[in-house]
Amino acid sequence: MNVDGKPTRTIRPAGDDAVEIIDQTALPQAFVVRQLRSAAEVAGAIASMQVRGAPLIGAAAAYGIWLAMRADASDAALAAARAMLLVTRPTAVNLRWALDTVVARIGPLPPAARAGAARAAADAIADDDVAINRAIGEHGRALIDGLARARPARPINVLTHCNAGWLATVDWGTALAGVYAAHDAGVPVHVWVDETRPRNQGAALTAWELGAHGVPHTVIVDNAGGHLMQRGDVDVVLVGTDRTTAAGDVVNKIGTYLKALAARDCGVPFYVAAPSPSIDWTIDAAGAAGIPIEERSADEVTTVAGTTAAGDAARVQVTPPGSRAHNPGFDVTPARLVTGIITERGVAPASREGLARLFPERAAGAKGAP
Ligand code: MRU
Repeated sequence: MNVDGKPTRTIRPAGDDAVEIIDQTALPQAFVVRQLRSAAEVAGAIASMQVRGAPLIGAAAAYGIWLAMRADASDAALAAARAMLLVTRPTAVNLRWALDTVVARIGPLPPAARAGAARAAADAIADDDVAINRAIGEHGRALIDGLARARPARPINVLTHCNAGWLATVDWGTALAGVYAAHDAGVPVHVWVDETRPRNQGAALTAWELGAHGVPHTVIVDNAGGHLMQRGDVDVVLVGTDRTTAAGDVVNKIGTYLKALAARDCGVPFYVAAPSPSIDWTIDAAGAAGIPIEERSADEVTTVAGTTAAGDAARVQVTPPGSRAHNPGFDVTPARLVTGIITERGVAPASREGLARLFPERAAGAKGAP
């Protein structure tokens, strides 16, 4: 996507000893680019959510292995870097996938060859992410185009949750890739943006990137979606995913499940954009309950962060001092509530058979495969 007219990726190597990221904790108030110079700095950036979004977390972790191997390419250092990066965010399967991909590539090599090979593997993961998301965008655009042809003379109203846009990936986004493609093709589209408490990825990040690209959008509180769907003000729900099981169950930002329930009740189609690295072929429907759901700090619930009228960052308490808070980061939307899964190979029904038809080579070894 363009930032100030310049094509910009959310992550890229800077010279041969650093990786450059956009600090997402500074948005929307400031566009801050940071350089990370070690695997520990990458792990810190993922854990603090300076970089976030399942595909971007995977790419960042891959570059983290590169930086680790530049410092020490021994077997012990490789295992330690993998372990440190793996525990930063437990739910997004892209993290494990990217680490496994890089480690499988460089593990058999002599230490002297590992840093160069890790850099090449990380670059390939980043480039693949861009290509995958561009393809998802084309399938998403076709879907929005179909809705627009059925309902001419008014914008198509998309509702989205959290941030599954450019910032959550290396480029383009997943759920929002189709929105951008439709908008760029002249299809009138408007996005309802769930604020996405507690971290407000919708209000802060999705609204920022849609605005930067000129896509009409309106921020709503998380509980408004059902009401809008009942009134016919939502044509389609489009969300991303941190992990989708081989059977089509979707783990995504907390609150996604409630949107799917409301969409089903109101007859609104509910689509999930899932790049293939977000599909966990090792887990079938029965295993979805065992997916680790990240528990984040209670402070994110008891306080709200924002900017004062003077432009200063501020955090204020919204709960009584004695109240406890619980902060699960993700929930599971059962496949039966999902209209379709938009992948880089097309739109699949949310089922083992549907996903297996598009990815026969991956599904063949999957748990529960015939
Ligand atoms: O906790 P986050 O901000 O990393 O969660 C992000 C989401 O839930 C996204 O919807 C998901 O990663 C898909 S990103 C294309």
